[in-house]
Amino acid sequence: MSTNIKTIGVLTSGGDAPGMNAAVRAVVRTALNKNMRVFGIRQGYNGLINCDMIEMNMNSVSDILQHGGTFLRTARCLEFKEEAGLQKAIEVCKKVGIDGLVVVGGDGSFRGARDLSIRGIPCVGVPGTIDNDISSSHYTVGFDTALNTVSDMVDKLRDTSQSHNRCSVVEVMGRKAGDIALHAGIACGATVILVPEKPFDIDKDVVAKINLALKTGKKHFIVMVAEGINYDSVQLAEDIEAKTGVESRTTILGHVQRGGSPTVRDRVNASRMGYRAVELLDKGIGNRVVVMRDDKVVDFDILEALNMKKEFDDELLAIANTISL
Ligand code: ADP
Ligand code: F6P
Repeated sequence: MSTNIKTIGVLTSGGDAPGMNAAVRAVVRTALNKNMRVFGIRQGYNGLINCDMIEMNMNSVSDILQHGGTFLRTARCLEFKEEAGLQKAIEVCKKVGIDGLVVVGGDGSFRGARDLSIRGIPCVGVPGTIDNDISSSHYTVGFDTALNTVSDMVDKLRDTSQSHNRCSVVEVMGRKAGDIALHAGIACGATVILVPEKPFDIDKDVVAKINLALKTGKKHFIVMVAEGINYDSVQLAEDIEAKTGVESRTTILGHVQRGGSPTVRDRVNASRMGYRAVELLDKGIGNRVVVMRDDKVVDFDILEALNMKKEFDDELLAIANTISL
């Protein structure tokens, strides 16, 4: 179907995530194959406001698929949240001739994409963040790689924790979401998993579990905590040690969770969603997010997507709690 969208831009925004490059590659190659022109916009919405962009050809996205980070760079751009910043971005789009945009990022970036869409620049969002915290999507690009990174690192921690009969409190990222902690907690055999979605009591939900495990002969423990819980993780280790007598240490994994070569799952899903985003723009459709529900690629109106409630996987947490001791 031919439309009036002939030139598109692509940008990455918010925190970088492994697999963003695969998404950009899919966008660029799909668009070029549909005879569209494509501009790679640098540093998120900053690049749009400052006209920092470069026209892409097939080779522009060669050799990036396997790399973490985002070759377009990313940023959090406060100016874009103001009407004046938005208007600058719109002027740049008009000047360059960009009549559609793919935004790879999180819910914040999607709000910006909606702001542009309702002002006449059709945008499509693709979920890219390690946090898996996008309400409309069961999966975000980067989540799988981050989980594999966490599991590699906790396997290493376990060696030392086991040698010293210690408890390792491991703090993982996720902002206000507990998905990384939940999935990594299962993958790493954590005795306790703490997530912001489920308020906890240290005596009942942590100390009692460790004491029970001690009785069964267990001597070392992994306590996986999401950064968004309402408890300082260094303090948590001190409290566990004081209440159980098990020597405890805290490890905050930090930004290393955002790096590394994307997993196959992240590469494939980023490619599927990037492709779909361009298909939509090619049909003249904007103001959408392309997301995953179960293993299917679907799309929603941005506002509808932003208003969806994130479902926490209670069943997975119940499984984790059952098999943790
Ligand atoms: P994420 O996209 O990962 O959720 P942020 O929330 O930091 O990350 O948002 C990334 C960028 O998206 C912001 O720096 C800003 O440029 C843009 N943005 C965020 N929220 C809004 C908003 N309410 N309106 C317009 N733009 C926004
Ligand atoms: O959204 C990705 C994320 O890594 C979160 O998990 C974390 O809370 C945040 O970004 C850290 O942001 P920054 O890189 O700005 O410190």
